[in-house]
Amino acid sequence: MNMLDNKVQIAPSLLSADFSRLKDEIQRIEDAGADLLHLDVMDGHFVPNLSFGLPVVEAVRRVTDLKLDTHLMLADPGKYLEPFKQAGSDSLTIHFEVRDKEAEISALIEQIHALGLECGLAVNPETPVGALFPFAEHCDLLLVMSVVPGFGGQSFIPETPKKVRQLSQWLDENDLDVPIQVDGGVTPDNAATCTDAGASSLVAGSAVFGAPDAADAIRRLRPQAPPPAHP
Ligand code: DX5
Ligand code: ZN
Repeated sequence: MNMLDNKVQIAPSLLSADFSRLKDEIQRIEDAGADLLHLDVMDGHFVPNLSFGLPVVEAVRRVTDLKLDTHLMLADPGKYLEPFKQAGSDSLTIHFEVRDKEAEISALIEQIHALGLECGLAVNPETPVGALFPFAEHCDLLLVMSVVPGFGGQSFIPETPKKVRQLSQWLDENDLDVPIQVDGGVTPDNAATCTDAGASSLVAGSAVFGAPDAADAIRRLRPQAPPPAHP
């Protein structure tokens, strides 16, 4: 797939925003050209950290029309699907690792769709992408984590593009067109390794919110056109 023709979506992660001025921060990345807003919800069980939950999602919904791409790092996501829909999420991404039976993952995917929301399925760095294959045709997004989830500001795991390529090739071979997202440690220096491998959605927290010029950071995360050839 030529990623210059098929626009890559940049999803800044709110986790790296200044929480004392959330509304301004959201406006800032909206003006800078963000395509989605990635919301990292952590429960202190599935990951060893807490972030924010429903009241923040609800407040964010009131100040932006950006699509709210909600990444549920929750051990028991099933309990909270309807509440996140009520809070204003547009898509809910759950983790493959939260259940060990395929039927239970499939049931969660169905519940998300029954709410009228898009459903993403994520794998942690230590989980092979093959884990996603049985569910891929029922998902709207497949997320390959490029850090161990739980914290912003970690370093990109260099094996990630290989996993993205393997997933992308499998999707092509099976005539499936499901976007692949990469999340964690994504910067302008490694973004092209992800998009070249087949990712079409990049989450970036520190690289966008921490940049002096968010618009420039977002531009540099997108695939770059090759320089014009000289006659
Ligand atoms: C990690 C989260 C990521 C992360 C992204 O658990 O899912 O979304 O916060 O932030 P950076 O880009 O700073 O790694
Ligand atoms: Zn995330």
